[in-house]
Amino acid sequence: MHPTAANQPIYDAIGHDYATHRQEDPSLFQEILNALAGAQTIVNVGAGAGSYEPRDRTVLAVEPSEVMARQRRAGSLPAIRATADHIPLHDGSVDAAMTVLSLHHWGQHQRAGILEMRRVARERVVIVTIDPRVSGQMWLMKDYLQEVAALDDEIFPLPEMICEWLGGKAEVKVIPTRRDITDGMLLSFWAHPERVMSPGARAATSGFARQPAHVVERVVDAIQRDLADGSWDQRYGALRALTELDAGLRLITAQLK
Ligand SMILES: C[S@@+](CC[C@H](N)C(=O)[O-])C[C@H]1O[C@@H](n2cnc3c(N)ncnc32)[C@H](O)[C@@H]1O
Repeated sequence: MHPTAANQPIYDAIGHDYATHRQEDPSLFQEILNALAGAQTIVNVGAGAGSYEPRDRTVLAVEPSEVMARQRRAGSLPAIRATADHIPLHDGSVDAAMTVLSLHHWGQHQRAGILEMRRVARERVVIVTIDPRVSGQMWLMKDYLQEVAALDDEIFPLPEMICEWLGGKAEVKVIPTRRDITDGMLLSFWAHPERVMSPGARAATSGFARQPAHVVERVVDAIQRDLADGSWDQRYGALRALTELDAGLRLITAQLK
């Protein structure tokens, strides 16, 4: 389905500076490559600017947002403008289907999208997502941005549910979020409270970008104040010594045959 004005993708509004702040992270990329194993033909659903796509295989990208599709790297195939629930490919036409941090944007079509990934892939389906029960415990969501924790509970399907949609034969792997992760997803903020003060960094996360201005202002003011008077460090200073944390990132792999 080609997106219409009625379902104008959210990323057309928030994706303008995405590629600057959301650089592919080498360690997460390696996990995804391992999960894709020998797949030579891959469809990347909700592909965005093309992060985490193997460069040495044939990758088809499915991406509804024009703004995101335009940020794909030079030399990659143009994205197929469609949504996950109607992947315009024949049954079993690729070795693997992958999706990275996109499933929570599929609304009521999450199950349909996963079934589509199963339909078009011959061998495996690889999904990177977030367990909202874990991300909701991160200091940012727990103490400042409860709106995002509440929204995440609604929009992120639980890993168990995803496994069920995948046919019950999937594995879930915990992917710790490293302090030095180069992909500025909202979970990366666990180690970088100062990042909340950057409008660009905030705007590249759908968590912040979806909040009304007064909520963002409240959170920025509170964190700025708590950093300045030392209360953030009193409560969370121990985090500054950690190199990684389980902030909720999950890699789900289903072997289809
Ligand atoms: C957080 S971005 C992730 C992009 C890319 N996978 C990455 O890891 O950088 C989420 C992407 O999902 C796309 N998306 C939103 N709704 C979608 C849908 N119904 N079907 C497929 N993709 C969708 C957005 O346009 C956006 O590019």
